[in-house]
Formats: sequence, C-alpha cells, structure tokens
Amino acid sequence: MTADDRSFAPPHELVGPLGQVIDVGGGVVPLLTPAPAPGALATASPGVSTAAPLASAAAAAPGPLSAMVPGDPSVLTAMARMANELFGAAPATSVAPVPVSQATALTPSNVQLPVSPGISPMLVAEPPAAMPPGLPASIGPAGAPAWPFSVAPDLGSLMAEVLRLPILGDVPAGAPAYFVPASDAVGLETDRGRGIDSSTYEVRAEPALVRDLGGAAFDPYALRRDFPILEERVHGGKRLVWLDNAATTQKPRAVIDRLSYFYEHENSNIHRAAHVLAARATDAYEAGRESARRFLNAGSAGEIIFVRGATEGINLIAQSWGRRHVEAGDEIVITHLEHHANIVPWQQLCQATGARLRVAPVDDRGDVILEAYERLLGPRTRLVAFPQVSNALGTVTPAREMIEIAHRYGAVVALDGAQAVSHMRVDVQLLDCDFYVLSGHKVFAPTGIGVVYGKRAVLDAMPPWQGGGNMIQDVTFERTTYQPPPGRFEAGTGSIADAVGLGAALDYVTRVGIDRIERYEHDLLAYADRRLATVPGLAMIGAPRDKAGVLSFVLDGQRTEDVGSALDKEGIAVRSGHHCAQPILRRLGVEATVRASLAFYNVCEDIDALVEALYRLAARR
Ligand code: ALA
Repeated sequence: MTADDRSFAPPHELVGPLGQVIDVGGGVVPLLTPAPAPGALATASPGVSTAAPLASAAAAAPGPLSAMVPGDPSVLTAMARMANELFGAAPATSVAPVPVSQATALTPSNVQLPVSPGISPMLVAEPPAAMPPGLPASIGPAGAPAWPFSVAPDLGSLMAEVLRLPILGDVPAGAPAYFVPASDAVGLETDRGRGIDSSTYEVRAEPALVRDLGGAAFDPYALRRDFPILEERVHGGKRLVWLDNAATTQKPRAVIDRLSYFYEHENSNIHRAAHVLAARATDAYEAGRESARRFLNAGSAGEIIFVRGATEGINLIAQSWGRRHVEAGDEIVITHLEHHANIVPWQQLCQATGARLRVAPVDDRGDVILEAYERLLGPRTRLVAFPQVSNALGTVTPAREMIEIAHRYGAVVALDGAQAVSHMRVDVQLLDCDFYVLSGHKVFAPTGIGVVYGKRAVLDAMPPWQGGGNMIQDVTFERTTYQPPPGRFEAGTGSIADAVGLGAALDYVTRVGIDRIERYEHDLLAYADRRLATVPGLAMIGAPRDKAGVLSFVLDGQRTEDVGSALDKEGIAVRSGHHCAQPILRRLGVEATVRASLAFYNVCEDIDALVEALYRLAARR
C-alpha cells in the first residue's frame, strides 16, 4: 500500500498486538498502549506493517489486548489525526510505517520518535514551521538521530479527554506509550453516553469532534499552566472550576508579568513629560493600541480608542456620535438579545433627542428574526446596535449579514463585541462595522480597559464626549481645539498600565491562535451541551443555531441562586441571575438562569465536574 492510499482495512484487521503500529493503508495509526507484554511483539513484522500479519498477531495475543484496542477504523484514524494535530505535523505524503521494534517506548510525557535509515516518521519528514505553544523551542533539526520533545505532561489523558476513548482511559498513569502519526483521519465524535457514569463511554463515529486544527497543536492542558489562578484551591482544597468567563476571564502569566514590568520599569504618565519613563510608558501604551489594531484588523491605530470597557464604549458612541447625528423622529434599532449596556445608553439618547428605540425580535431559539429585523429598518434608522455574541444565551448573530442590511438603509452600525473577542476571530474591516466595542477583562486582560474601534471617517466627524487634559490641541478661555482621534476621545489620564496589559493579552491570544481557540471551544461547548442534556430536570434556555461560550439553564424546582451557591461550594464558579440581560431572559420565559461560560482553558473535566454536581443537586430534590 502506498502513503497516498487512504482506504482503510476492515476493522478486524486493525486489531493488533499491544504496542503495535498498524498500517491502515498508506498511513500509520498510532496506538497508545500499555507496555507491551513479554512476547506480545513476537509476531510483529518490523518494517513490513501490513494488516494481515497484524490480524494474526492479534489472534495470537488474546486477553486484555482486544479490550484495549478499538476495532473501529474511525477511532484509530481519529487518533491519528489527533496525533498529527498535537504535534503540528502536516498530512503525510511520504510516511513509511515505523516498525514497533524501532519505536521508542517512553512515557506519555516524553515521546520520542526514531529516525532510522529508510524509515521516515512524519514528524521528522515535516517538522512544524512554528512550534505550538507548550512545546520547547529547542526542537532538533530534521534528520537528527532522535527528536525528543515534551508535550502535555499527560498526553494520554489529554487524548482521552478530547477523544473520550476507552483505550486511553485504560492506560495506567505513566505507562509507556508508542506514538506514531498517521497520514489521515476521519472525523469522530465520541461521548460519554450514560449520564454521569464516567466509566462508561459510548464511541460513535460522527464527523465532528476531531477536526482539522490547522496542522498545529492545541493543548488546553498546557495552556492552563499559563493561568496561575487556575491552580487555586477553594472551599477547603477543592479544585477551582472557573466557568464564569462571560463575567470575566482569568489572566495569563504574560499579562500579570507585563503589568509588573510596567510598574517596575516604565510607570509614568504618557505623552507629556520629557523624561525617559514618560517615553517608555508612552511607547508601551501605544504598543498596546497597535496590538488592539492588529487583533481587530483595523486599518490604523488612530481608529482604536481606549475606554474603560464595552459599557463606556457604547456610552461614548451614544453621547458623541449620537448627539451629533440623532434627532427627534430618528430611530435606533437594537435587538431583543441585548445586554443592558446596549439598551440603556440608547434609551438615554432617545430620551434626550426625541428619537425612537426599536427592537428586533428573536425567535424561541434565541436567534434574531432577520426578516423582522430588516422590516424595522427605514429612512429614519440612524444607527443599529447589536451583540456579536449574546452574553445570556451565547447566540452568535449573523453580524456580517445584519451589518450589510443596515448599511443598505444608510444606518451606522455599532457591534458589541464584549462576548465575542475571546471566542472568535474579529476582523472589523471584513465585518464592515462602523464601531466595534470590547472589554479587555473578557479577553484575558485587566479590568478597567476596553476599546472602541471606529472607522476613521466616522470618528473624524464626532465631537469629544468628555473634556479635559490629553485630548486638546489648544485651550484658551474663549475656545478649545481638539486632538484628532483617538486622542480626542481620551480625556484625562487613562488606565495606562491596563492598556499595556490589554496589548499583552491580545498578543497572547494571537500566539495561542484565535482560530484554534474557536474550533476547540466549539467542540467543548458541544460536549457540554450534550452532557448537560442528560441531567434530570435541566432545561437549557435558548438553542440558537450558532452559539459561543455560554450554557444558560435552569434546574427544575431549584432557584438559580441556590444552584449557583451549591456549585460554588464544590469549587465551581458560574453566574446565576439575570446576567444584565433581563429582556431576553423574559422573552424566553424566565427571570434568571444559571450560566456556565467557557474559555479555551476549560477542559472536559470542568464540564464533567459541573454535570456531576448538577446530578447530585437534581437527586437531592
Ligand atoms: N457582562 C458581564 C456578564 O454578562 C458582567 O456576566
């Protein structure tokens, strides 16, 4: 068989002896197995890995073997795909099987791949262009006698968690493992199928969970180590399970260290003094602005205004743009999904100007009804404001489409990105929104800092909204002239260090890879949705077509605050209440929900802890 032959052998031929490398037709499938039993490899054919001898080898090695190795080719090939992704390997083109006799058995935390004449393991043939996070930079060159490197300290459990494979669940901690990538894999979705019994797994072949992660590793377990607070123990030594990311995210060491460095080496006010620390602080602050520009793909740093957060950003737009452009009889359109921060400033503007606030409805799933939204727009629509992701339900709105519709009616669009930026790529030029607001603390940055992006032409036509130092060109008692944007909108001394910290956070997210974050979280959310659905008496609130980061639910007969407190006692942090979004919860028939919300450092164990605690609560009734 050649490396390009992607057809798979029938399942029974895939059952091989412990530690064996199995050729499924052109690729090499990894097996993570316990240490080979003495003699178990005797029937292997080094260098000639074909299905037939393996099948007979399997027959010769009965007992635990058949229980350890899944016979489903999709399971094995999904593992292969996972292996490729973990190691950042490109799809194989010239991979020869590695005979198990030449593979090096090591613990899962230290995988070595051999290089022998005539044998070309994928990792050596195709070293990754950039090292995935968590792997040391000192990786050896291709062709070195061996290519040792560390992966997640517990590779076995990582794969077990992501793939939910019984074979991996059975690997004793610290057992030697063989790990050889394969040429390709099909998708696989697996799930624990029976409530909270963690010893039973149901493996189903569905093309979802294991997907192309862009050829690079995504290791949430390694990334968790970047967040010191995730090691925190609460309530008498319980592991902290942080599922309140929609309220605020935790901060990586990169941000914490950047803040310390600023205060230790750079602290000064900016833009004014002619001394070295002022220059350092100004450079750091403006570098933070440039990071925000890059993160949002804004056209220029002049389009990035620092504010305290998304709430202040929306108020800035309402007060500055709104007071200039909105008159009596004009209309502002929002949606039923809004956070209070995207309702109240517009109400205030309407009260001050005589304009009218109109609300685009959502359906019972929590999706904006696009036809009804468009019907609200007309010649008097001045501005449309809506969330890219709802904080209460997680609804991902069709932002690009809604913006395009609004522009057809000549309206300016303000997109509330507070709940989106930590979950998905944002490109303000692609979205073509006129304004975009975000809060730093929801994207791993400090509190007290946020961003308003505004198109340059729109910002140029806006008056300042606050007056003071920093935003002026010249002041006399008769008249004042102002800086161009963004300075015009940054009166007084802002949160300088926090702007620097925001830059560090956004750079950190970029290093992790926002597209990979999005894919990982999508799968984690799907896992969480499925598991929560098994909890007796649990009702999810909202079922939008596309959702990010949020699981909002109620538990039959239990007050949401009681559920929140009970979970807290188990170390699980969620938010319960109305989430500053009363209209959308009432629209869906509740006053409050329990909200678990995700970030990329959450793992399946976090979901399991939540689900198992909810089972206990449900049983207590
Ligand atoms: N806006 C934040 C939330 O939704 C506080 O929880």
